Amino acid sequence: MIEFCGLKLRHPVINASGCFDVLAAARVFGDELFEQFPFAAYVSKTITLRARAGNPPPRLWESAAGLINSIGLPNGGLRAYLETDLPALAAALPVPLITNVMGSTPEEVGEILDALEAEATVAAIELNVSCPNVATGLDIGADPDGLEALLHHVRPRSSKPLIVKLTPNTADVAACAAGAQAGGADAVSLINTLRALALAPGGSGAWLGGGSGGLSGPAIRTVALAQVSRVAQRVTIPVVGMGGVASGADARDLLDAGATLVAVGTESFRDPAAGSRIARELDDGFTQIAH
Ligand code: SIN
Repeated sequence: MIEFCGLKLRHPVINASGCFDVLAAARVFGDELFEQFPFAAYVSKTITLRARAGNPPPRLWESAAGLINSIGLPNGGLRAYLETDLPALAAALPVPLITNVMGSTPEEVGEILDALEAEATVAAIELNVSCPNVATGLDIGADPDGLEALLHHVRPRSSKPLIVKLTPNTADVAACAAGAQAGGADAVSLINTLRALALAPGGSGAWLGGGSGGLSGPAIRTVALAQVSRVAQRVTIPVVGMGGVASGADARDLLDAGATLVAVGTESFRDPAAGSRIARELDDGFTQIAH
C-alpha cells in the first residue's frame, strides 16, 4: 500500500491526465475493466470552467519514439463534468479520482475549486499549468513567482490535496516546483509534454491544426528522469513522475529518482492494460523486462 497525499493506493502506478478515458474504455471492455482496473488512482482529462471544442485537426503526429499532440483541452466544461461525468465515475471507479483542472485566470481556477469542494467523489485535484496547446496553458506554469502567486490565490479555496502539473518547457523546473510548494501545493507532477513542431510534407507549413504541439512517449523519457530528479531534490512534497514510461524498469527509474508515484501516458494508447502490466513488472522486480 502506498500513501500519497492522504490517499491509500494499491500500487504506485496511475494514469497521466488525458491518456485514458475510463468512460470510453468501459464501453469497450465492459465491467472487466473495473474488475482489473489498470491504475491505483484515476486522473481525469482536464476540465475547464466553460466547454472547449479543442484544436482543429489534425491533432496527432507520430515521431520517432514519440507522439506529438495538439488536442487543445476539449471538454464539456465544469457543469457537464459535475452533472454527467462525475456521477458516472462515482458509480464505476474502483480507485480514488483525481480531477485535473485548468483555468485561464486565478479567478477561474478558484471557481472550479469551489465547485469541486462539495464533491466527495473527487479525492484530489491536479492543477494543469502546463498545457502547451492552448494560449494561456503554460504562461504561469513556467514562472516560479507566478506559480506561487496562483497557488496563494487558489489554495484557500480547496481542502482537497492539490497536485500541480508542471511543464518541462521552462528554464528551471525545480524553481517552479519550489514555487508551487511555497504557495501550498501538496504534490507536484511532471513532466507534461515538450513543445514540438511537425511540418506537413511538401512544405505547406505546420502539420497540426493547432500549429505546434506537445511531444510525449519514449522520446522524452530521459528528459523526464532528469527533471524529476532535480525536482525531487528541491522540494519536500511528493512528486508524481511521468514521461515515456512503458515498462516496470522505466517506472523504477523514476521512483529511484525520487518520485512517489509514476504515471503512464502515451503507452496506454498502445496497450490499454499498460498500467497493470507496469505495476506487475515493478512488483516482480522487473527482471524479465526488455526495452
Ligand atoms: C491537450 O489537450 O492539448 C493536452 C493536454 C495537456 O498537454 O495538458
